[in-house]
Amino acid sequence: MRTQIMGSGFVTGQHLVTNAQLASVMDTSDAWIRERSGVETRYYVEQGTSTSDLGVGAAEKALENAGVTKEEVDYVVFATMTPDHYFPGCGGILQDKMGLKQIPALDIRQQCTGFLYGLQVSDALVKAGEARTVLLVGSEVHSGFMPWTHWDYLFGRGGEPPSAEEKAVITSFRDRTVLFGDAAGAVVLRASDGESGLLGFQLHSDGADFQHLYVPGVGFAHRPFVDQDQVREWRHVPEMNGRAVFKLAVSRMPQAVRELCARHHMTPGDIDLLIAHQANLRINEAVQKTLGLSDDRVYNNIQKYGNTTAATIPIALDECRRSGRIRPGHLVCFVGLGAGFHWGAALMRA
Ligand code: ACO
Repeated sequence: MRTQIMGSGFVTGQHLVTNAQLASVMDTSDAWIRERSGVETRYYVEQGTSTSDLGVGAAEKALENAGVTKEEVDYVVFATMTPDHYFPGCGGILQDKMGLKQIPALDIRQQCTGFLYGLQVSDALVKAGEARTVLLVGSEVHSGFMPWTHWDYLFGRGGEPPSAEEKAVITSFRDRTVLFGDAAGAVVLRASDGESGLLGFQLHSDGADFQHLYVPGVGFAHRPFVDQDQVREWRHVPEMNGRAVFKLAVSRMPQAVRELCARHHMTPGDIDLLIAHQANLRINEAVQKTLGLSDDRVYNNIQKYGNTTAATIPIALDECRRSGRIRPGHLVCFVGLGAGFHWGAALMRA
């Protein structure tokens, strides 16, 4: 018995924002962002749209695609690093917004590997007989991290541009802000008797390097956990050592794929489609090269959406399922690395 992905779906924030638009609020350029990261556009939500709202949108599409009614869902797993509230998590909020039964709703916080961890937990729940139909959601509203208030100006609907002083502050975060977008992806999982379904996982964690990517403030290591000093010092905005993250990603992602393939008596050459987390196109090009995969065996969409953290892999999966990029019998490999650091891979027979 294997756990199968029955359906998938995704939604993005309402506003498409180009690199040129970002250059109107900070010192950056379309050329720099494309060259260093591959990102061309990303979406941001309208203020008031939350991570659980996007999650509901993606979940409804996934249920429709699976031909499964919401009454049939008996477990929710929700992955995000940008929850609506510090607590409770988004799983229960989504359960209520969708009018699901009073089923268990679990929150996962493994950042860019959140979807992979959620997939492993969902697979285990199905195999253990604890759930028949799992709704797995990855959703992020990163725009709340952005260090500017000039949203109307950015969206091109009036408003004031930032002053020179404000622009200098916004620019100091440009290495991070240009990479991320708002979106949600979801899948519906169930047991199936055939050959198709999830084959296995190779997940890892190592907390030693967590300070290469983390939110330094707004946490219970402080008392109170948030105060005006922290906000004034921008300690509510993630800190990132981009080069260190880059190095970890290009070594650990291919390593996880190799380990997983070996456990299943396969090689990376057997993979028909690699769907990697989309943090930086240059990272994915390096992973592809290390694994020796041709272009037709790798899918990237960071150009359109930027990094959408837990939403990234289900969005790419949905695009590949709907466009015919994944065909019956294909061996699909998912791989990612995220803050924590957590990383790993999963294999699926389509
Ligand atoms: N626009 C213009 N210039 C910029 C920008 C920008 N947006 N960002 C940085 N620069 C400048 C820097 O200030 C620096 O200028 P200097 O040489 O005058 O000091 C120069 O560009 C080079 O900066 P680097 O940081 O060395 O640039 P790099 O090539 O390493 O690219 C990047 C930076 C894109 C952040 C890259 O390191 C990266 O993608 N790292 C991985 C990040 C990642 O994967 N994060 C997400 C993890 S997933 C999760 O769990 C959320």
